[in-house]
Amino acid sequence: MEKNRVYFFDTTLRDGEQVPGCQLNTVEKIQVAKALETLGVDVIEAGFPVSSPGDFNSVIEISKAVTWPTICALTRAVEKDIEVAAEALKYAKHGRIHTGIGTSDSHIRYKFNSNREEILERAVKAVRYARKFTDDVEFYAEDAGRTDNEYLARVIEAVINAGATVVNIPDTTGYCLPSEYGAKIKYLCDNVPNIDKAIISTHCHNDLGMATANTMAGIMNGARQCEVTINGIGERAGNTALEEIAMILKSHRELGLSSNINTSGIYPLSRTVSNLMNMPVQPNKAIVGRNAFAHSSGIHQDGVLKNVSTYEIIDPKDIGLDTNSIVLTARSGHAALKYRLESHGVHLSKEKLDKVYQEFLLLADKKKEINDDDILMLAGAERTGERVVKVDWLQATSGVGMKPVASVGLDIAGEKFEAAATGNGPVDAAINALRQIIKRKITINEFTIQGISKGSDDCCKVHMQVEYEGHIFYGFAASTDIVTASIDAYVDCINKIHSI
Ligand code: KIV
Ligand code: ZN
Repeated sequence: MEKNRVYFFDTTLRDGEQVPGCQLNTVEKIQVAKALETLGVDVIEAGFPVSSPGDFNSVIEISKAVTWPTICALTRAVEKDIEVAAEALKYAKHGRIHTGIGTSDSHIRYKFNSNREEILERAVKAVRYARKFTDDVEFYAEDAGRTDNEYLARVIEAVINAGATVVNIPDTTGYCLPSEYGAKIKYLCDNVPNIDKAIISTHCHNDLGMATANTMAGIMNGARQCEVTINGIGERAGNTALEEIAMILKSHRELGLSSNINTSGIYPLSRTVSNLMNMPVQPNKAIVGRNAFAHSSGIHQDGVLKNVSTYEIIDPKDIGLDTNSIVLTARSGHAALKYRLESHGVHLSKEKLDKVYQEFLLLADKKKEINDDDILMLAGAERTGERVVKVDWLQATSGVGMKPVASVGLDIAGEKFEAAATGNGPVDAAINALRQIIKRKITINEFTIQGISKGSDDCCKVHMQVEYEGHIFYGFAASTDIVTASIDAYVDCINKIHSI
């Protein structure tokens, strides 16, 4: 292990994928894993194999597809989990089992109805068992952020003796202050006699917005692996964002720390993950948000024009944001579209590319300049499977001094239906019309409309979460017409309900 090298452990495909509505299929996971490999991450956490056949299969397929990064599989401190993880990792060129157990008093008492000594024994047993299958075993002390330091040090010493080569100190609830988390890592460095035999890993959640600060505090106090996700996606408020730690290490050379991350792959991969997971990136998100390099105030613009270093600490090119990137228009050919898609890691068959190209021409008729987000959106729509319920036509009228009204024509497995309704706006009217045809009690829990770039001719993305008979479904659509996108997202939910 190089002393000043920080190893990147990406858990986009495990902690990130646990987010409701962010699930990927195996082909999409392979696409992300290969992009992570190109980006230079050291470890890819590919899933929790015992949790579902889908996760099991994804770990197998990612292991086959990826060459040099270590592939990691998560388990509880349970023999069956460890056996299943080892089986899923059988094709990995370098495989790691990530096993662990909750160590805070709250987990010990309420989750396990146990005591500290018993939990320590279970931790040791799990690590020993995992070592029967591989030499690379990482142990996580779940809720380490709220675990008593003295007890945590005893657990860490014992699991290293049992064969753990990496020890993960998760701030599972995102509770720690940076000073507290840094002090915890320092305490382990100073009080675990065999700590030099393992790498300490950070794994921070963002519940109080401190995940990145905590990860940096951990690194500056001796941790040499950071567990991160692209765009900071993950349980609840998310995990530490890979792009933030990578760019902090690159910008603060005085720390003397290096990593293997090729930062110019950050922006394209951020867009790919956002599009595949239908998870918009907040516009002011550090490093990869749409506004991260947009200077709007006059004073800032003036400064940047005189010398970019006045207000810009990162060169956008360092994260692969090509501000001069080719803008496609109605005159762009197949080849230009294929080139832009492939630069984002999207490889379509000729047949699919032809379909996306036709959609692209339709969009180019409505919008003068087509950017990368637009074409990724079109490629994303092409991934959506066959739909039983389709919108044949839609008309909505609204304005000042009139009641919004909409009528809609649906095709349900070849049968035609029509309805009209009023509402408090054109979207409400159109959804009321749809409800007259689809006579199910579907509640809309969440409904977000977001523009992709700028301008009144922009495309918008709609994300919807609905509830039906106690189940949650997610719908997604995009269009230059906000009513069409909203209705398509609702119909996307209906198709998902239909397919269960
Ligand atoms: O947040 C956490 O504690 C985790 C562990 C399972 C590593 O994700
Ligand atoms: Zn986590």
